Amino acid sequence: MPEPLAAPFPADGSALMLRLDALAAFSEVAGQLTRRYLSPAHLAASAQVARWMGEAGMRVHTDALFSVFGRYEGQAANAPAIMLGSHLDTVLDAGRYDGALGVLAAIAVVAELARRGQRLKHAVEVAAFGEEEGSRFPTHILTSSALIGAVKAELLDRRDAAGVSVREALSAAGGNADDYLSCARKPGEIAAYLELHIEQGPVLEKHNLALGAVTAINGSKRLSVTVSGVAGHAGTVPMPERRDALMAASDMLLAIERLAASEPGLLATVGQITALPGAQNVIPGKVRFTIDMRSPSDAVRDRAHAALLAALQQIARTRGVGCEADTYQSNPATPLAGRVIDTVCAAIAACGQAVLRLPSGAGHDAGIMARQCPAGMIFLRCKHGISHNPAESISSEDAELGLRALLEATLRLDRELARMP
Ligand code: GLV
Ligand code: MN
Ligand code: MN
Repeated sequence: MPEPLAAPFPADGSALMLRLDALAAFSEVAGQLTRRYLSPAHLAASAQVARWMGEAGMRVHTDALFSVFGRYEGQAANAPAIMLGSHLDTVLDAGRYDGALGVLAAIAVVAELARRGQRLKHAVEVAAFGEEEGSRFPTHILTSSALIGAVKAELLDRRDAAGVSVREALSAAGGNADDYLSCARKPGEIAAYLELHIEQGPVLEKHNLALGAVTAINGSKRLSVTVSGVAGHAGTVPMPERRDALMAASDMLLAIERLAASEPGLLATVGQITALPGAQNVIPGKVRFTIDMRSPSDAVRDRAHAALLAALQQIARTRGVGCEADTYQSNPATPLAGRVIDTVCAAIAACGQAVLRLPSGAGHDAGIMARQCPAGMIFLRCKHGISHNPAESISSEDAELGLRALLEATLRLDRELARMP
């Protein structure tokens, strides 16, 4: 028998869906959703989210890296907070639920507490993180990393495709990158972190379930590779004499695919590639591409990473080109906190749903927050498991269940954390 809900929640899935639609209108590109970190669309969406937080009864502040936080005090002032949230940035040509769902559902949870006049033993803080996707700068999960004090200053000098650094973009937005250390919270300030997110995979749909409890988050490595050959005339340089950077890169791409396919659970993606100078009648002299490599096992991923670097150099030697690979990000696989997972399971059961525990293939702010405090995630079914794609889709009924489960898990965590020494 599922445990009963702690309190009925007149959650309104359709109101949440309307807000998600409204937020999706904040885009850099007409006719699609692209909202990269610190773009005018991201800053405008953050301002809208700040207004919604204020209307829901929260005190709002924006930190030095432009994450927005809303705080709903507990029974006592300055109590440690249960943080609920996710991110507002998106990939290019994104769906409307990745990140936004977790932020807007968290605001709805606080609005409901405020409507009831209910104060918890903990404060509830809603986080709308600024940079999770790495879709503009070669950074990834920058803003929650800043919250736990894990950002190195050199990250702020990374540049986007237009040559603008994070530092310059912060300053153009009216901020000051040198204040980044002020984003870090003191130990104990956040008692637990909880994130509702679409699953971005097909497992829940296959099991005919709306919700799941996340057990762990895949680790990842991100690399930027530059292959240097010799540019030349497409009509005059004989084939055996070419040092074509793009043909060498093509060999590398296929080697990456073979390597990833050789280990169960290992994944590798080349999502960006540029050939320079990029002219129809010029042999490419330089190629840059990215590699995103993931595995639930750090040992497997580290071994594959070493094999990958060796394979790239071997191909470069055979082809007579140069190759530099910069591994600019490395996030270990992260187990989530057992007691938060149990609480999430109990909350899902209290919503009348069967419980499935599953790992996350995607990266999340929760993976960073788990280094600072007990962290958990609730996954919500998305249609055909499609994500990072404008076809991303969830149902209003599932959104409503997600809201209920998030509120229920928050109330249960509040009680359980207060009981712990
Ligand atoms: C974030 O969506 C990631 O896992 O790349
Ligand atoms: Mn996300
Ligand atoms: Mn994403």
